Amino acid sequence: MSTPVAPSFQPVIEQIAADIAATPGRGRPADYIPALASADPHRFGMAVAELDGTVYGVGDWRRPFSSQSITKVFTLALVLSLEGEALWERVGREPSGNPFNSLVQLEYENGIPRNPFINAGALVVTDRLHTLTGDAAGALRTFLRAESGNPGLDFDEKIAASEAAHGDRNAALAHFMASYRNIDNPVPDLLDQYFRQCSLEASCADLALATGFLARHGIRADGSSLLTRSQAKQVNAVMLTCGTYDAAGDFAYRVGLPGKSGVGGGIIAVVPGHCTLCVWSPGLDERGNSVAGVAALDRFTTLTGLSVF
Ligand code: DON
Repeated sequence: MSTPVAPSFQPVIEQIAADIAATPGRGRPADYIPALASADPHRFGMAVAELDGTVYGVGDWRRPFSSQSITKVFTLALVLSLEGEALWERVGREPSGNPFNSLVQLEYENGIPRNPFINAGALVVTDRLHTLTGDAAGALRTFLRAESGNPGLDFDEKIAASEAAHGDRNAALAHFMASYRNIDNPVPDLLDQYFRQCSLEASCADLALATGFLARHGIRADGSSLLTRSQAKQVNAVMLTCGTYDAAGDFAYRVGLPGKSGVGGGIIAVVPGHCTLCVWSPGLDERGNSVAGVAALDRFTTLTGLSVF
């Protein structure tokens, strides 16, 4: 991958890495997926991508990690590009105020998940993508390879298998929604697609570049259109309100950007019309968000003034 390190954001992210140097190592890697538990919490990487694909990086910014729930942004964008508003009959767009893997609201709300970023909502989105493409995880991988310019991006089958072996809660969510006819594909097929999707390994550079269409108002790296300007705004809005689960209010308060976290320790963020970011450090807080990642994004918007507010 040719990712030039140009000077302008470089001093800022180097200062951030120095300012938050005590933070990597705080928090704990996810342990409910055994294959993620061995991640080194002291690792830290950060990348910023400009609209033209110029990337700046610091620390472990080229080191692949498990992207996990970050992929939910890309599957949502792909489904919106394929079927537009129809998706919103299957999934809501309100913050849940609950942990990402919570079951509790689903019965009260008749099998319609609150938003596309909690696990229940992401399962519905992957189900739609699988129906629309015949291979949800493959469609995601093709898209991410194209947008990142990295043809080597791939799933980590070991992580996918580890999650499948400990996937009772996701299986429960999927079966429960199927009982409301909100899942079209056989549940085992859907879970296989979802676990492979989550296992996709990518670096901060890859994910900052792949998120670029959200800063370019829906325009892909090759200049073609994935989303309308209005749809790109909608995805950014759902990221801001729901992208960090029951910490979305605190994330908006501290960072002031649309963002999406994953239990691998990564977080992507968007400055619409300007740039995209990805930070990674595996130590998580109690809500499943990277401690050093949030600290770095908080510092970025403070130092640069680049926020949506
Ligand atoms: O469904 C799961 O449990 C994981 N594969 C993804 C969860 C995740 O990344 C939540 N993010 N903070």
